[in-house]
Amino acid sequence: MPGTNAQVLWSGRLEEKPAAAAFAFQSSIMVDKRLAVEDIQGSRVHAAMLGKQGIIPQETAAALDAELARIALDLESGSLPIDLGAEDIHSFIEGVLTSRLGDAGRMVHAGRSRNDQVATDLRLYLKHTVPELCGELGETIGALLDQAETYAEALMPGYTHLQRAQPVTLGHHLTAWCAGLERDLGRFTDALRRLDECPLGAGALAGSGLPLDREAVARGLGFSAPTLNSMDSVADRDFALELAGAAAITMTHLSRFCEDLVLWASEEFRFITLSESWSTGSSIMPQKKNPDFAELIRGKAGRTTGNLVCLLTLLKGLPYAYNKDLQEDKEALFDTLDTVRACLGMFRGMVRTAVFNRERMEAALSGGFLEATDLADYLVRKGLPFRTAHETAALVVRDCIAQGQRSITERTLEELKTRSPLFAGDIYQALSPKACVEARKGAGGPAPEEVRRQIAVLRGRIRQERSTLP
Ligand code: ARG
Repeated sequence: MPGTNAQVLWSGRLEEKPAAAAFAFQSSIMVDKRLAVEDIQGSRVHAAMLGKQGIIPQETAAALDAELARIALDLESGSLPIDLGAEDIHSFIEGVLTSRLGDAGRMVHAGRSRNDQVATDLRLYLKHTVPELCGELGETIGALLDQAETYAEALMPGYTHLQRAQPVTLGHHLTAWCAGLERDLGRFTDALRRLDECPLGAGALAGSGLPLDREAVARGLGFSAPTLNSMDSVADRDFALELAGAAAITMTHLSRFCEDLVLWASEEFRFITLSESWSTGSSIMPQKKNPDFAELIRGKAGRTTGNLVCLLTLLKGLPYAYNKDLQEDKEALFDTLDTVRACLGMFRGMVRTAVFNRERMEAALSGGFLEATDLADYLVRKGLPFRTAHETAALVVRDCIAQGQRSITERTLEELKTRSPLFAGDIYQALSPKACVEARKGAGGPAPEEVRRQIAVLRGRIRQERSTLP
């Protein structure tokens, strides 16, 4: 029955109990029940500190610690089900403690408030789940880089405006994705570093007059320090914004990669064959094999954008310090973190099992005059100003089109010379897609040796970033 006095921590002040529906409306247990372990951890360290500081008797502190440990075990074994009629996880745990220990249980809340408690629980939760997410991200980048290495020489068109632009390699394209994901990893580890401060002891907003030892609590919970300001500790959720932002950016990346995959899997491109286990069929069209997983990841990016906007909007008008609005933070943040994590795993599986069609990708290089820039560069190397070289190359392309030729290399040297006397026999070799790619070995370019260097740099950065995580 919702709202039994055993679980309501504020029943002393109010004579009337809220109606069941009203109580259920303001309850958060469905969302914050996943913070049970962190809540118990926080209470154990808090109780031990209360004992050490002489705020409660040492024996009481010891009894609280033992009982909290038992509650953790009971929850884990399932012998203690979480009461979904409780107001929130903090009320539930304290309620169980008090029902088992009587007055000793009623001592645990000295010097704290649910406001600093929930902020602490949430940060503790993030301190272990975000590194796990970073692990997923690192694995996903690793899987992409493996494919990039395999296809470091596989020629394909690079696109601008979704029009064939210049020859690149699949390795170059996949490494481009990884460069973005590596920055995402950096955003997560960066946010983790900043949230590594313990709010416990901030109380409702103004700390406590009791002689708490916040340093000891912070250390005991594995934080690097207590938070600096008690009002900030309970009022701000910028760490949630940073993580939701990092996650929304990661999902935006995945969404774009998935858009590439959907295009590549189409009959029009046929650059990629997605494994059957990562595709679905149609309920009506028997021939269909759809890239649903890629589409769904693309779709879920909308959710994480929504969650970020939800959190920003939630915070924007809030007066300092705590307001109940903040209770809404967890649903959006948990959903975002769950979503990005699931999508990373799905995306990785899809990429690992995908087969790329080298012939189709290479065939797509012909016919679109992708060698035109290299023709201009050839003339620049012979001393022509680039703008003139560009115009000359454009005229050559027009000549080709006028005569139904699909590549500049179909023109004879004499024909080319009508546009510039600088053309010589070495032009044909310079225009092959392979030569175009190999010439681009400067920093960032698609030449296979340069892409391999980029891959090594990214692998090194990921190793370095992951080594800073717990
Ligand atoms: N369930 C609340 C939350 O998630 C815990 C803090 C409640 N504090 C309060 N003063 N009502 O924010």
